Amino acid sequence: MSRLSIYSDQPIKAGAEPIPQLQTTDPELIASELAARGLRFERWATRPPLAAGTPAAEILASYAPEIARVQANGGYGTVDAISINADNPDRVALRQKFLAEHTHAEDEVRFFVEGRGLFCVHAPEAEEVLQVLCERNDWISVPAGTRHWFDMGAKPQFTALRFFNNSEGWLANFTGDLIANRFPLLNQ
Ligand SMILES: [Fe+2]
Repeated sequence: MSRLSIYSDQPIKAGAEPIPQLQTTDPELIASELAARGLRFERWATRPPLAAGTPAAEILASYAPEIARVQANGGYGTVDAISINADNPDRVALRQKFLAEHTHAEDEVRFFVEGRGLFCVHAPEAEEVLQVLCERNDWISVPAGTRHWFDMGAKPQFTALRFFNNSEGWLANFTGDLIANRFPLLNQ
């Protein structure tokens, strides 16, 4: 189930677990809390489960109406579909790549066709860390420049649509802040 957890970003006693100030699985509350912080979140209509090895073009065609709506609102001329599973030989490196706090010059916009992933956003001016557990049918948009990290878990399993304005320019700029180490990872 999709879940939003909001924490203080302030350091706590060594060994203590951070306790969320707010935690909800209500999609409307998730969307409104995120909207108040400049992020967008939607639940899209369910499609039949994908057969193994469904080509990306077929996945994209299945979501054509929603993709067109997103593109009408905000650009994102390039959309692709990626799948990462627990048998991926690069899963450790792929997971590690985005586990530290970073920003992009582009919005990070994802739709979870299947599986799950944990988006974590750091808002230092509000002294907050938001963790959004995205599940199947969740669409999320993290604005360019937002401090964030992403955990796909030790046994990743997801298929996601990725929306880009400029896929060539989509690089991670690491902040050097080790804050991600103080917060829960995706538990799988
Ligand atoms: Fe990112």
